[in-house]
Amino acid sequence: TYLGIDLGTSGLRALLVAENGTVIGAAQAAYPVENPHSGWSEQDPADWIAACKTAIAELHQTHPEQMARLAAIGTAGQMHGATLLDDAGDVLRPCILWNDTRSSAEAAKLDALPDFHALSGNIVFPGFTAPKLLWVKNNEPDIFARVATVLLPKDYLSFWLTGARVSDMSDSAGTSWLDVGARDWSAALLEQSGMAQDQMPRLVEGSEVAAPVSTARCAELGLPDGVVVVGGAGDNAAAACGIGALDEGQGFVSLGTSGVLLAGKSGYAPLPASAVHTFCHAVPNRWYQMGVILSATDSLNWLARTLKTRAGELAGLLDGPLNAPGSVTFLPYLSGERTPHNDSAIRGALLGLDHATGDRELVQAVFEGVAFALRENLDALHSTGTELSSIMAIGGGSRSNYWLELIATVLDLPLDLPEDGENGAAMGAARLAICGATGAAPETVMTPPRINRRISPNSDLTKAYAQAYQAYRAVYPAIKAL
Ligand code: XUL
Repeated sequence: TYLGIDLGTSGLRALLVAENGTVIGAAQAAYPVENPHSGWSEQDPADWIAACKTAIAELHQTHPEQMARLAAIGTAGQMHGATLLDDAGDVLRPCILWNDTRSSAEAAKLDALPDFHALSGNIVFPGFTAPKLLWVKNNEPDIFARVATVLLPKDYLSFWLTGARVSDMSDSAGTSWLDVGARDWSAALLEQSGMAQDQMPRLVEGSEVAAPVSTARCAELGLPDGVVVVGGAGDNAAAACGIGALDEGQGFVSLGTSGVLLAGKSGYAPLPASAVHTFCHAVPNRWYQMGVILSATDSLNWLARTLKTRAGELAGLLDGPLNAPGSVTFLPYLSGERTPHNDSAIRGALLGLDHATGDRELVQAVFEGVAFALRENLDALHSTGTELSSIMAIGGGSRSNYWLELIATVLDLPLDLPEDGENGAAMGAARLAICGATGAAPETVMTPPRINRRISPNSDLTKAYAQAYQAYRAVYPAIKAL
């Protein structure tokens, strides 16, 4: 059997699968995000380890025989986080997460150097890893001086399991230190951000074996001797593996904390000016592109907190057929925005409130704002030459039919709803483990899942939503000017 672990922002999910890819069982454990200052977002790596132990212990209880036959583990996780280790492998400070914006000045400084666009293929966004290290250098020099290795979150988990400092191409592509076309660390990019190659983990492809689980850890976790860990993947590449999006024209929209519109690419064709991300895929010789909005379900969570209710309750206020566009406009820039604006200073907006505006209208505005923001991402992908004819919808937000029909209509694209859409990244990680342990070709393992339902654009409303989208687009430049 194979274990896929997704180290997410709000919790860890472990998925046990059989060699043919069917799900045997799942376990999860939550952990907090700390926001000690405005714009800061941190986690204690010890919480990830505790969650991993809890999930593995639960799977031992629910599936003892299948766990005794475990052959390989794949790790996936939230991208870009900086976990700093000293020589002894001890963690030097809390991990600085992907949605932490403290290093926006450092990001702008690196982004202005021509090599970053040319070699990393991407804008240096404030959430990426390189500017975080520059921030530590400028603000915590004693810690910076002791950094022996920088690991991404899921690579820290693999390090804890194996003792090996290893990363994969897809996650490393989000550091701003990788030559994304060459799939190798760039000496020039490292040097320009004050880092050295010996502080980087060894690189493998996501579907390659990274290292065996150490004897001590096997004993501690009750795992059979000989279990290996594969390179794994950043969560978006892993989710793409989980739903079989490897090639051109295949992709997904993910409604998680962040919102992602992803397309598989058979070649490397970056266009940093579009604020589209171009990263290595988790399997050899493939890349992917994506637009990222920072607050998708996080926007609904914000509204729920503000209205003192739960997100599920709010979503339930809109459970009928799609309405015409509402008169309240919401811009989901609660923590700034990546694609297409690359603007960490901008904040969200609510416009058009009147006496008739109640909870229901606000939920509709939030759903529409996220849908329009995703439409701007689709336009950004199109500007690079990427085409999508239908996509899968995954992530927690895809439980709302209303939201899905709205997004299908605003994107004017059919959305396919896979069975097990919430297993995305954990399933992808398990599939990478299968490839690594059996040597199976990724194309034969990363196949599309069964589709539960296809949600088509509502053709009676596409025109009205196209007009509302144009009105939405006019708001960003107006509020930016303020
Ligand atoms: C991608 C990104 C987010 C995180 C979420 O660039 O920052 O999607 O990976 O976990």
